[in-house]
Amino acid sequence: MMIARIVVGLALVGLVLPSMPAQAADLDKAHKLSVEHCEKCHGKTGKGDGELLKRLKADVKPVDWTSKTAMAKWTDADLAKIIKVGGKSAGRSRVMPSFGEKFSDADIANLVAYIRTLAK
Ligand code: HEC
Repeated sequence: MMIARIVVGLALVGLVLPSMPAQAADLDKAHKLSVEHCEKCHGKTGKGDGELLKRLKADVKPVDWTSKTAMAKWTDADLAKIIKVGGKSAGRSRVMPSFGEKFSDADIANLVAYIRTLAK
């Protein structure tokens, strides 16, 4: 009886533990996606001063991702939404593209987690 309980207990631990790292954000992957797809507008450090944005002469300024105060106004859900559906569908500037076709929801969640690491 005792042994059976230990065996069941270990099996449960075995089920729970391997799934934990998968839930942690893959910040390395998000960083790579950001370098490739986001920095040109949001800038290397996330300040919103990317070259493409300057060239577009867009009269809209993205939020400074390095500012804790500015970022505090955004929920993770709002950040994920604008990345997924784009600025236009989120009721903001159409200059912000939609990435819902390109990236999985997991990639977008990783990007949100990555963006959060930039605010100091
Ligand atoms: C062509 C330029 C451009 C690219 C590329 C771009 N963005 Fe944006 N993004 C913007 C602009 C402009 C805004 C501001 C929209 C507004 O406030 O009306 C914005 C807004 C956002 C916001 C809302 C908060 C903020 O910064 O204003 C998030 C989050 C965001 N972008 C994430 C991303 C991610 C992640 C990528 C790459 C996968 C990306 N963006 C690529 C231009 C861009």
